[in-house]
Formats: sequence, structure tokens, C-alpha cells
Amino acid sequence: MKLHDVILESAKPAELLSACPKYKPSPLIKKSVQNNSFWIKDETQRMGLGAFKALGGVYAVGSIIAEKQGLPLKTDSFFLDEFKSCAQGLTFVCASAGNHGLAVAAGAQIFGAKARIHLSDTVPENFAERLINKNAQVVRSGANYEESIEAAIEDADSNEAIHLADGSWPGYIEPPRLVMEGYTIMAKELCDEFERLNDWPTHVYLQAGVGGFAAAVAFEIRNSWRKQPKIIIVEPDAAPCLKQSIDHGKILTVEGPVSEMGRLDCKTPSMLAFDILSEAANEFCLITEEQAQNAARLSNEMGLATSPSGAAGLAALLANPDKDASSLVFFTEGSVN
Ligand SMILES: Cc1ncc(COP(=O)(O)O)c(C=O)c1O
Repeated sequence: MKLHDVILESAKPAELLSACPKYKPSPLIKKSVQNNSFWIKDETQRMGLGAFKALGGVYAVGSIIAEKQGLPLKTDSFFLDEFKSCAQGLTFVCASAGNHGLAVAAGAQIFGAKARIHLSDTVPENFAERLINKNAQVVRSGANYEESIEAAIEDADSNEAIHLADGSWPGYIEPPRLVMEGYTIMAKELCDEFERLNDWPTHVYLQAGVGGFAAAVAFEIRNSWRKQPKIIIVEPDAAPCLKQSIDHGKILTVEGPVSEMGRLDCKTPSMLAFDILSEAANEFCLITEEQAQNAARLSNEMGLATSPSGAAGLAALLANPDKDASSLVFFTEGSVN
């Protein structure tokens, strides 16, 4: 599959989110660190969930329920009795490094469905507590992210639940495609803002776990921005699954130690992300644990608390200083305990 074969329509999540009282565009902030001036798209407070992932999981849950009832994806559908009674009978299951699970749990709670989230041993307990507060059932499954995905697939298959993963693989595309469609909103918000400012970035840094975030944002940039930037994909050097796969022209699972960048510590890329980024990305940048921790510390000193995963784009920018560039990075989550 190639970039032009994948369809992500930002207008669809835009319609749904316009009716959500918690939705507003996230801030775009100009900052300067070590003589590098750059834009930050600040996702640390997104919809009260503390990460951009809220845009994908909530939208995908609503879309799947509407689709099951044959209802149009319009906000009016969500208030119909048939939508509500359909939702009550559904359980959404996924594995998560933390934030995707929170988004699915929030979607299930908003629309009246149930959620069960599989967390590997590496996911901080704080995420488990936040999930339970969203009425989700939490299951500790496996030593790493990949093992928790296996557990979620098995759970959904044996319990007639809906598996709503953020990664895709052969034969499993539509649910993660919806999740990614929700993420395109960030690039749409940015397009509106840069158009208004008449000032466009030359370089965009996108951190990747399975690559859904980076691919969705890159997709929308390539399809709708008037001025095209260079797109740089940032991965931990402990988990360079997109770089390795795209270098070799096929999806590969990489080996590596556990990374402190927990949300980026994915050893196999999403197939949709592989397809999109094979065409849309210009460069890859691998960062060390130390570079990510340093960037998170600098972010906290700037008054924008984020984690090493959230600051990974900034770490890549600081590793490749270019005084002539006008760069954009994303702080993808708030600080994580
Ligand atoms: C805070 C944060 N940043 C970046 C990512 C990477 O997103 P993806 O796995 O879609 O590449 C995640 C994924 O969970 C995340 O939670």
C-alpha cells in the first residue's frame, strides 16, 4: 500500500470533536533553547487526558459504534437511543503503553461502552490508576508491549470484544486507521495557525513508537499544507523499528533494551505507518536515553513539563542544530510518574 492508497480524512474527526465540550486546539508556542528557536505543539493538556492520544481513541470508539448501528458519523447519531443501547453491549479491548488505553477508556466512558486495557509490566502504575478512574478494567499482561498486544488479541477473540489497537498489520487495518484519522486533527490545527501567521516551519520532528502519530501528522502535512517542510522521524536508539524497516523496504521487528522513552519503545512498526512514512518522511533520527532525558529536563525548566517520550522531538532538534531552520516539535504528553 502506498501513501495515495491510504485515506485519512481530517474533516471527519473535526466534525465529531466540534461537539465535544473538552475539545479545543492545543497551543502552539515559540521557545528558544541553546540559541535554537523553535515551535512547540503542546499536547500535554489535550482534552484533559494529558496526551494527543485522546484524539484517536475517543474518535475511533464513537466511529465504530456508529458504524455497527449503520448510523452516519454525525454528532446527532450519538444522542439516539439505538446508538446508546448498542454502546452498552460493547467492550473495547486494547494493549497500551499508557496513553492509547486512556483514550479508549475515555471513549468507552463517554459513549457508554466498556473497556478492558492490557498493560505490560513496563507501564507505570500511575497509568493503571488513571485507567481504573475511567471505569476501565486493567489487566497486567506480559513483560513488554508486544506481549501485551498478543494478550489483547487473545482476549478480544475469546470474549467477542472489539480489539481497538493503535498499530496495524496485514488483515487488521480499519480500527487503527480510525485512530490515526483522529490524530490528523493536530496537523489541521497547525495548518490553520501557520496560515494565519503566514509563517511556516521548514523542519517538523515527529517521534514514533509504532508510528501511528508520525504517519497521521505526516499524511495531513503532505496533503494539506501549502508550504512543505522536511519531515524527520525520531525514534529511541533502543527501538528503531521504522528506520530499520524503511531502510530494508519491509516490516522488521528490532531487538533492543527497554527504553526510558516508554511510549516510544515499540519494536515492530504499524503497517499503515510503514506505508505512509516510506513516502512521506525525509529523514530518521535516533536518539539516546541521555539525549531524551536531557530534553525532558530542559522542557521542565522552560515550564512545560513533559516526559522523555514527550521531549524526543526536541532531543532530535538539539542533536542537529541548524540556525537557518524554523523547526516544529511536538510535546506529546505531560510528565509521567
Ligand atoms: C506520549 C506519546 N508520544 C508518542 C507516542 C508514539 O505514538 P505511536 O505509537 O503512534 O508512534 C505515544 C504512543 O503511545 C505516546 O503516548
